[in-house]
Amino acid sequence: MKDFQGRTAVVTGAASGFGRVTSLALARRGVRVVAADLDLDGAERTVRLAKELGAGGAAYRVDVADAAAMEEFAEAVREAHGVPDLVINNAGIAVMGPFLETTAADWDAIIGVNLVGVVNGSRIFGRQLAERNRALPKALRTGHIVNIASAASYQPVRSLPSYCTTKAAVRMLSECMRADLARDGIGVSCICPGFSGTNIAKNARTASGLPPERAARAHRWGETGLRLRNYPPEKVAARIIKAIERDEAVVSINLEGHLSHVVSRVSPSLGRLIARLPAPF
Ligand SMILES: NC(=O)c1ccc[n+]([C@@H]2O[C@H](COP(=O)([O-])OP(=O)(O)OC[C@H]3O[C@@H](n4cnc5c(N)ncnc54)[C@H](O)[C@@H]3O)[C@@H](O)[C@H]2O)c1
Repeated sequence: MKDFQGRTAVVTGAASGFGRVTSLALARRGVRVVAADLDLDGAERTVRLAKELGAGGAAYRVDVADAAAMEEFAEAVREAHGVPDLVINNAGIAVMGPFLETTAADWDAIIGVNLVGVVNGSRIFGRQLAERNRALPKALRTGHIVNIASAASYQPVRSLPSYCTTKAAVRMLSECMRADLARDGIGVSCICPGFSGTNIAKNARTASGLPPERAARAHRWGETGLRLRNYPPEKVAARIIKAIERDEAVVSINLEGHLSHVVSRVSPSLGRLIARLPAPF
């Protein structure tokens, strides 16, 4: 997709971080932003900022993990704004803590948002797009789905087992979707950023089995690490737009994003050594 003017994008997790800045980058290109998040106030703020940039938009409160709620949301979007040309499945959470300290509830929570949430957004809006495109001549078919994975999809980390697992699954899901949806003229890109300064660490869960003092250390470590890394989310948003323009399959972003990709391909045994580094909490 080269021309963004007048398109509509659904962005999940749009109240914060990558979701907000990607919404605003799209708004600058003349895209109407449908901002979806559990945090309705935050999503509304994103839409207000998008409107200041001259774009239209609307905010919705929706839990991406809830398939029925996502079906309802998608129907409401189709009625109010038409079939969205762009779907950015961005909502995500982290669970920090070693495997044996995680509980069934931790896994349900992270798989629900990071994997099932992406499945729901892709499946439900993907069907709308496919149905619309099938009624159009091939040359007019358009639409793009972006799934936000992570450098953690390449690199195992002993203190982030559930996060790495869901992100690797999103990357594989995106590859399968890309192969399948091409026949309906829908592009699919998977984005794998390294660390960037968003609220992900602040909003993260800690493994339920971690004692409170270790959980507090994990939060401090995550938040300080992202602040010191200081990689602007706006650069991630700009790369997402480029990935849509070029219809790229998998995009690694920033130094650790590229390094983890290269290590996973060239020296998986080095990746396994890195995975064993002790968590500082
Ligand atoms: N920040 C990083 O370093 C980094 C690196 C790689 C990948 N990512 C991924 O980028 C995506 C965006 O994260 P971020 O860093 O901007 O974090 P963030 O915490 O700033 O934003 C995430 C947003 O998702 C929303 N959200 C969470 N659960 C939801 C649900 N069930 N339904 C709807 N919305 C929900 C939150 O309310 C929040 O607004 C995530 O998928 C994350 O895993 C982040």
